[in-house]
Amino acid sequence: MSDEGGYLSGMKINGRQTRSIWLESDGWSVGIIDQTRLPHDYATLRLASCEDAARVISTMQTRGAPLIGAVAAYGMALAMRDDASDQNLERAHAVLLATRPTAINLKWALDEMIAALRNRSRAERIAAAYRRAAEICDEDVVINEAIGRNGLRLIEEIAARKKPGERVNVLTHCNAGWLATVDWGTATAPIYMAHDKGIPVHVWVDETRPRNQGASLTAFELGQHGVPHTVIPDNTGGHLMQHKLVDMAIVGTDRVTAQGDVCNKIGTYLKALAAKDNGVPFYVALPSPTIDFTVADGVAEIPIEERAGHEVATMTGRTADGRIETVTIVPTGSNVANYGFDVTPARLVTGLITERGVIAPNRKALEDNFPDHASRRPDTRKAVE
Ligand code: MRU
Repeated sequence: MSDEGGYLSGMKINGRQTRSIWLESDGWSVGIIDQTRLPHDYATLRLASCEDAARVISTMQTRGAPLIGAVAAYGMALAMRDDASDQNLERAHAVLLATRPTAINLKWALDEMIAALRNRSRAERIAAAYRRAAEICDEDVVINEAIGRNGLRLIEEIAARKKPGERVNVLTHCNAGWLATVDWGTATAPIYMAHDKGIPVHVWVDETRPRNQGASLTAFELGQHGVPHTVIPDNTGGHLMQHKLVDMAIVGTDRVTAQGDVCNKIGTYLKALAAKDNGVPFYVALPSPTIDFTVADGVAEIPIEERAGHEVATMTGRTADGRIETVTIVPTGSNVANYGFDVTPARLVTGLITERGVIAPNRKALEDNFPDHASRRPDTRKAVE
């Protein structure tokens, strides 16, 4: 944890404090990290239009539920810069919303932008859009820091039960770290804070096929922060739990329903089943914009993204002589399926780590702690009327 210049940050790349999204020095275009080049290359991208923002979300050059919301918010600001008409406001909302279906943060951020812009004159819209997009980013950082402090207590409780110096083993899936948010991450925030407090925390990192967000991104982040970690094939968690090598699981989420069902990267459900069978606490870290009070039964109601088959049929990596190569690992003619997410029913979740505390995964706890979100009715109006 650092407090340079008054800004508390979990994210550092090569020792330099940064964020996953920023306004470029021209004051209007938007910078992001190209996550498809990590961990081998650190490269950034400059977004200059709504279409640029939509493209990088679709290609997953930027990804993670909170971050795609932030990128989409700036995509709306870029759209207003081109043309601040009602028609373009509506068009930009539709273009950005169509990029990825599962993470509700995307719709949340786009609806926030519409609410901030709908009743403003064209002349006011550009400045108002940049202002709200910047707020969405700043709010994400504050929320994640609070998630970190709340989750830290859980790690401290486990550490207190251990022998001095014995490590706390946390298993995580996919990447719910600073690369998936504006800073800190959700699932990783408590881990960074525990590490910085001197708690000997070690992370089992699920590789997370097919796109390897664990192996490529979470391992990169943890390495940058100096957190001890071990990358494991996705099938390993159950074995580790049977042998008492996992003290807790913490994962992120793309959508939590009103009854506490949790949608997250494909494979999360299997880890939750294994955790239940082995008495391992299974926690989900989430910012409030991830709660979708308009749906209850996650399995029945959440749209699950299906991505291109080549993500399963191929693997990309760095060769011994430094080239990045993609190779095919599936026989010609075999069908492949690429479901991006699955739903873990609330009954398998030990607790939800939120910015307002660690709460039970049920409707009452969600409504009691987030009455401001629960009272929001689904916005069925057109973006602009
Ligand atoms: O398909 P991705 O890489 O965008 O999926 C990301 C996840 O599933 C994360 O766990 C989730 O978005 C939470 S990020 C704080």
